[in-house]
Amino acid sequence: MKHLLKLQDLTAEEITQILNLADQLKFEKKNKIEHHLLKGKTLGMIFQKSSTRTRVSFEVGMYDLGGSALFLSSNDLQIGRGEPVEDTARVMSGYLDGIMIRTYSQKEVEVLAEMGSIPIINGLTDYCHPCQVLADLMTIREHKRTIEGNKLCYIGDGNNMANSLIVGGIKMGMKVSIACPENYKPDADIMKWAAENGDFVCTPDVFEAAKDADVLYTDVWASMGQEGEAAIRRAAFKGYQINDEVMAVAKSDAMVMHCLPAHREEEITAKVFEEHADEIFNEAENRLHAQKAVLVKLMAD
Ligand code: CP
Ligand code: NVA
Repeated sequence: MKHLLKLQDLTAEEITQILNLADQLKFEKKNKIEHHLLKGKTLGMIFQKSSTRTRVSFEVGMYDLGGSALFLSSNDLQIGRGEPVEDTARVMSGYLDGIMIRTYSQKEVEVLAEMGSIPIINGLTDYCHPCQVLADLMTIREHKRTIEGNKLCYIGDGNNMANSLIVGGIKMGMKVSIACPENYKPDADIMKWAAENGDFVCTPDVFEAAKDADVLYTDVWASMGQEGEAAIRRAAFKGYQINDEVMAVAKSDAMVMHCLPAHREEEITAKVFEEHADEIFNEAENRLHAQKAVLVKLMAD
């Protein structure tokens, strides 16, 4: 494993290894056992979009591992003024030991990896969010003990989260159901791959998708960069919400997940959110542990 660009590039075995290391690092952090596995290493963190969890968890993660992290806002970098990503990749490769990038285009992340000579980590694109889903799989395993065989139901926009959840869920042997409006389906190639490689369904019917689910997952109706479409999307996604009625058709011990930030009373009711806050905030915490595992796998000597 040279980069983390998208989950398609990882085998189930590699994902399991990351999750095992993440569990170990979480245990060690809770027990104040320090491992400076990345002593003297520096991670550059390029952000073309906002972030709370990704930024803070990567920065703390590098600090925990004995290295350091640089926050690089695209507003301040020449990349924001049009310097090609091909050149940025080669310049940065001379200074840094790895780059985490959050941006719009998946292509940009792939070019960074192709042109640079250091590990590249995708911290979210419009296409996918692999770091989030590694933390999600870790959280599901903590709560359900195993991943395989569980039914994961995602309700809402067929966006970056849906794409990565489909790939991660199917690779790890989960049944995956997606409930979304007709015009807001996940990536067509990913859905085709999922149908050929596992138990996958995409339906406009929320209740059909949620039936007997072990895990219910949702995300915002309008992602970063889609703020201008918020009103249209609010109308299109009405009913695509995790609420008591949806919970009633899922398994009685179903867990609820959200990558955050959440919009209460849009994709999830405040009531369901608060009833499952322990799961949701453990999920957020696990970003730190899962990403530390990724950093070690990619950047340790
Ligand atoms: N879930 C997630 O990636 O959060 P941030 O946008 O705050 O990083
Ligand atoms: N779909 C959301 C995820 C945020 C973590 C977005 O792209 O804004």
